[in-house]
Amino acid sequence: MSQLATLTYMPAEHLPVLASELTAVLAPQPGETAIDCTFGGGGHARLIADRIGPTGTLICIDRDPASEERFADFAAGAPCQTRFLRRDFSGGLCDLLGEGVRADMAYLDLGMSSFQLDNWERGFSYSYDAPLDMRMDAGQQLSAADICNEWPQARISSILRRFGDERYAGSIAREIVSRRPLESTADLVDAIKAGMPPAARFGAGHPAKRSFQAIRIAVNSELDQLEDALPFAWRVLRPGGRFAAIAFHSLEDRPVKRFLGDLARGCICPPGLPVCVCGHEPEAELITRRAVAPSDSEQASNPRSRSAHLRAAVKLDSESGSV
Ligand SMILES: C[S@@+](CC[C@H](N)C(=O)[O-])C[C@H]1O[C@@H](n2cnc3c(N)ncnc32)[C@H](O)[C@@H]1O
Repeated sequence: MSQLATLTYMPAEHLPVLASELTAVLAPQPGETAIDCTFGGGGHARLIADRIGPTGTLICIDRDPASEERFADFAAGAPCQTRFLRRDFSGGLCDLLGEGVRADMAYLDLGMSSFQLDNWERGFSYSYDAPLDMRMDAGQQLSAADICNEWPQARISSILRRFGDERYAGSIAREIVSRRPLESTADLVDAIKAGMPPAARFGAGHPAKRSFQAIRIAVNSELDQLEDALPFAWRVLRPGGRFAAIAFHSLEDRPVKRFLGDLARGCICPPGLPVCVCGHEPEAELITRRAVAPSDSEQASNPRSRSAHLRAAVKLDSESGSV
């Protein structure tokens, strides 16, 4: 076994990130319907549930079975009506649309929860020696072991570069392939370190951080999920409904920014036309002109919040162009 720690699982706490900022942009009111697309440990859900109260409905989605178990505890004492869908959020939102559900707010808090990161057995963390798993939904086929042991070197190199911005993607991918079969996260950390020049192993942050992020994103199809879910999350809102997303890196933030920016745009005529001929009306008004970051005190008390960015918009009434 490796030099990495092997620990018994200490159920962590997950501190909801940008909690007061999220509540402020969503402005939940008594009796409203909310969709929490990433229930996790229910930190944000609790705040919304308190505000929508007994006549409100909170629909929660998460693809992790452990999250469904936490939802059962939450629902038992929730101050509002609740429902849970154990689904990926794009599929869950699509199902809700098919049922005719319409909501006053929908929000996404992307990435992993501390419950997932700190449960060493799930293989999300480079700090513990664990099986190469990294699946948020344990029922899905593809795991980190499949990527490390079966994908062609060029494909591994490509995801390390695209999803991890890893400068040494090519040489790390070569090390991964030459060390097959990799069995544990410690084997992966060793391969990553061996694929880097010695000086790069001692830079800022853990040398495996970027590669672990990249492999996790690939295992869980995180960016495809997000691209697919955004139009559904928008369509499920009533006019006046609020949408918000918390992203943790630019790969997540960019599609959210682009999506909301396109909805908020009026004229889409090619530049240079003397008058507008498109007649295009904005569908959204941005609540956050720029992404909102955590306060210094939140970053100090919850270091995992450091890279968070919140964006939000309200759906305009397409008939009147107003909220
Ligand atoms: C950052 S955590 C959410 C934490 C939550 N807001 C809280 O305060 O406890 C992200 C959660 O989203 C879930 N998740 C991530 N991607 C998902 C997807 N595509 N479909 C469904 N759930 C997803 C993860 O399983 C995880 O539980």
